[in-house]
Amino acid sequence: MSKTEADIGLLRALRRSPHHIPRSELAERLQVSPENVAASIAELRGAGYDIEENPHLGYKLITAPDRLIADDLAGMVEGALLGSRVLVFEKTDSTNNLAARMGREGAAEGLAVFAEEQTAGRGRLGRRWESDARMGLWFSLLLRPRFSLPLWTRLTTWAAVAIAEAIEQETNRRTMIKWPNDIYVDGKKVVGILIESHFDNSGENFAVLGIGVNVNHTQFPLELQSRAASLRMACGHPLDRMQIAAAILRKLDQWYPTLEDGFHQVVTDARERSFLNGKWIQVISGKNVTEGMVTGIDSEGCLLLRLHNGDETTISSGEATISMSGRDNS
Ligand code: BTN
Repeated sequence: MSKTEADIGLLRALRRSPHHIPRSELAERLQVSPENVAASIAELRGAGYDIEENPHLGYKLITAPDRLIADDLAGMVEGALLGSRVLVFEKTDSTNNLAARMGREGAAEGLAVFAEEQTAGRGRLGRRWESDARMGLWFSLLLRPRFSLPLWTRLTTWAAVAIAEAIEQETNRRTMIKWPNDIYVDGKKVVGILIESHFDNSGENFAVLGIGVNVNHTQFPLELQSRAASLRMACGHPLDRMQIAAAILRKLDQWYPTLEDGFHQVVTDARERSFLNGKWIQVISGKNVTEGMVTGIDSEGCLLLRLHNGDETTISSGEATISMSGRDNS
């Protein structure tokens, strides 16, 4: 086992154990000498990990540094396809751009590109996405779905459901999905998702799933205050970004096969979390604006609307806003 592998193995063992682990046991598990374990512990402490040492019981991880660490994160999602390779950049324009570039260069499915800060983070409809350093999770996943192109629209609902579940699990706060894939807690947006598909003639199609999670902000610019929140604001305490990142990757990975087989489970969850159900909304889809009351989500994740004249319509993509002029028919 190389030194880096031993360090990652050590971190993984410490992260998984709620108890102290004796040095001799760690040495045996990692197949290194007890001196090597002590050296790795010293190195991890130097990197900001707070590791307690009890002379009788051994070592216990108390806190990890508030930094995204690629090897540590990769170890936390070991065995998952999504997150099978993790890269962390201190600063970039947009992780979606980086992941797309690597996708064009042939990178394998499952690559996860994180940045501590984005200088040109973007949201849907070309909007700017605030991506302040270390406040949140700004990352992109490279996907190479093997199913047929018409099914790629399912990625939107799949991502929303998996991320909503992960956030709920880590925060114990109920998460809702504002169609198509914004994640809300207490009526405010905490996660934005931007999926960009890349098609070319060679057939090497791929999608970049960009995820922005507001984690530890204590406030937002005035213009966002009525709509945006962070998980810290919702929970009342700071959160460990690495734990949340790992939980999201694991949930996405766990739900990934249902895109082809078992998508009804994804839709069932999306329906239970639907923030817009029963509300009058306006949906902008390209040049079309449709107004109506949300009556549900169909088996492909499309939005069902009842129009003013009573007709039902199905919307497959777009941006929804709650209509001020709308009537509440509930
Ligand atoms: C939205 O709600 O409009 C989508 C926001 C998506 C933001 C993420 S942050 C990581 C990735 N890189 C980007 O430039 N955008 C996405």
